[in-house]
Amino acid sequence: MRSFISILFFLHVYANGEGAGLEILQSRKPCVGKYSNYKVIQFKTKSGKIGRWEILNTIRHPSPDNVNGVSAIVRVRNATGTYFLFNKQFRVPTQSWTIEFPAGVVDTNETAKEAALRELREETGYHAANVTFESKGRQPTFSSRTDDLQKHVLIDCQSTDLKQASPEDEELTYPLFIKESDLWHEIRRLETKYDIASNVYTFAMGIAIRDGLI
Ligand SMILES: *[C@@H]1O[C@H](CO)[C@@H](O)[C@H](O)[C@H]1NC(C)=O
Ligand SMILES: *[C@@H]1O[C@H](CO)[C@@H](O)[C@H](O)[C@H]1NC(C)=O
Ligand SMILES: *[C@@H]1O[C@H](CO)[C@@H](O)[C@H](O)[C@H]1NC(C)=O
Repeated sequence: MRSFISILFFLHVYANGEGAGLEILQSRKPCVGKYSNYKVIQFKTKSGKIGRWEILNTIRHPSPDNVNGVSAIVRVRNATGTYFLFNKQFRVPTQSWTIEFPAGVVDTNETAKEAALRELREETGYHAANVTFESKGRQPTFSSRTDDLQKHVLIDCQSTDLKQASPEDEELTYPLFIKESDLWHEIRRLETKYDIASNVYTFAMGIAIRDGLI
């Protein structure tokens, strides 16, 4: 039933001309999990070539923004400068410590903004934060392999209100503030020891390019 719905969805996309002329011949889920499914999609290109796609279909809770998750760029501006908050987290898929933006899953009926503030509260105990920017659209996390989608928000907060985190999985997550003016230098240092999430790396490169560092 679900794969039938997926086929309908893809046919719908195709019919709207958004499918780049791909015709979906078959969509199967040979492996169904609790958080994600393994999905195999067979398609035909305009020229008649048959292709096969293997994707990780992440299970999305029904919510107004229709995304799986949200990444938060948490900014603190005080007398000594501008700082961004990152998490150093041990990640099982890559078996590595990874520098990431605070992020979380969007729950049922929750907006991405609400999810970001909830995660920040859970991770840092922080309450008085302002969401000063929210992406209008959705950002795929790895569009060639998965249908996982997220939004990005910018949260401004005052460092004095941040409490030390006591997350449930505290052994696996460490908050890390990095000053904007040191960010590129710090990332270059950290990348010799840890993996850096793609969006964090791109963010740091953007700042380095702006500052003429690269
Ligand atoms: C989500 O919202 C819908 C529509 O208002 C409602 O029927 C449903 O019970 C809600 N689900 C949860 C888990 O709150
Ligand atoms: C959040 O917004 C309120 C109201 O505009 C403002 O008073 C407060 O200073 C803001 N806090 C931060 C951390 O920007
Ligand atoms: C500003 O915030 C950063 C990050 O939380 C903190 O390390 C620093 O001590 C703060 N500076 C002042 C003057 O409060």
